[in-house]
Amino acid sequence: MNYQEALTLLQRNGQEHLLRYYHELDEKGKASLLSQIEGLDFSLLSLLKENRTAEGRGDFAPLGALTADEIIRQRSEFERAGFEILKEEKAAAVLLAGGMGTRLGFDKPKGMYNVGVTRDLYIFECLINNLLDVVRVTGHYILLFVMTSELNHDDTVRFFREKEYFGYDPDYIRFYVQDTAPCVGFDGKILLEDKGRIAVSPNGNGGWFTSLAKAGLLSLLKERKVEYISVFGVDNVCQRINDPAFIGAMALSGRDVAAKVVRKADPNERVGVMCLEDGHPSIVEYYEMTEDMIRLKDENGNLLYNYGVILNYLFRLDRLEKIMNDRIPVHVVEKKIPYLDENGVFTKPEEPNGCKFEYLVLDLIHLLDSCLPYEVIREKEFAPIKNATGIDSVESARALLRENGISL
Ligand code: UTP
Repeated sequence: MNYQEALTLLQRNGQEHLLRYYHELDEKGKASLLSQIEGLDFSLLSLLKENRTAEGRGDFAPLGALTADEIIRQRSEFERAGFEILKEEKAAAVLLAGGMGTRLGFDKPKGMYNVGVTRDLYIFECLINNLLDVVRVTGHYILLFVMTSELNHDDTVRFFREKEYFGYDPDYIRFYVQDTAPCVGFDGKILLEDKGRIAVSPNGNGGWFTSLAKAGLLSLLKERKVEYISVFGVDNVCQRINDPAFIGAMALSGRDVAAKVVRKADPNERVGVMCLEDGHPSIVEYYEMTEDMIRLKDENGNLLYNYGVILNYLFRLDRLEKIMNDRIPVHVVEKKIPYLDENGVFTKPEEPNGCKFEYLVLDLIHLLDSCLPYEVIREKEFAPIKNATGIDSVESARALLRENGISL
């Protein structure tokens, strides 16, 4: 794309300010800006004009779970099925590590955070250790994809290399970069971060599968005959990943996806809850629930909307492939976005000044026909690190790691 073509495209979309500093850039800078402009998805901007965040919601209905008690009763059957799949290396995993982790306030990729106290123990290391637990019992590695973003890719790859992949076989690790989306001011103008750089942010964790396909990695999954693929967040240092019972329960259920869930700590807990929406599996956010939904109980006195998701899912690959070209809703999220102001001065706002566009994993689940919610025990498997202190923090995760016998 040359300058004139870029200008015409931008004028058509009311975004010609992006070329304001073009003539001040050197040749490399000019080429880079033009290629950024060429890659812009202007269709996202119409969402802002319509003042619409994702779609309206449908009719909700409760969805029960395979409870922890039931899992204990059927554990050997589940494990047997899971072992088989893991021994044939038919289950892969994707670590979602493309987020910005702004709440933690750590200026490196979140996985590089050291949760150790008397020794080094990094978040990435905790997750790899959890995978290695499975590798040890099955004698087989699990193909692991690490999804990064443009902003943290190099740091992440370098860190894994430096730490010798924490003892994991690097032949079984692939890194890929997730897509980004432009950041837009409240006036609908795409923001510049620098004279030659458009402000972008990772486009949410729901883009993990299309980004994986774009990175050309589907052929590797085919080559290795992978049938199941899990995704998990970087935050949760205690989660079990691709554990045999989970894989086995999922395989035996024949469902499209399985979701690890925890029982709500109280009816008003601020978690997304597994449910049905218009007959399809879905997640209803705590703020979308009516008072009725919050309080409704079954004949045994259990809440009907009782199982919160922990961002640990297991998909059947063939079912994912079927929906990969379906339209997935985009969420418009207000954020504080550093930008070049009208005087060309780099500014870090104190208040939200614009929007980012995000795809979410939960919307991917809603496109599928069936889901197996699989209950895990919160004290064993749910130690998210979102904040530096307080709820879901480094402190609370350290406490849970210790409770689970991990020396810090
Ligand atoms: P969060 O919702 O916690 O977002 O991500 P975040 O950006 O990491 O953190 P904050 O809100 O800025 O503090 C949940 C999981 O999804 C991944 C994150 O890395 C984390 O594992 N994620 C999120 C991505 O991989 N890509 C994204 O674009 C967003």
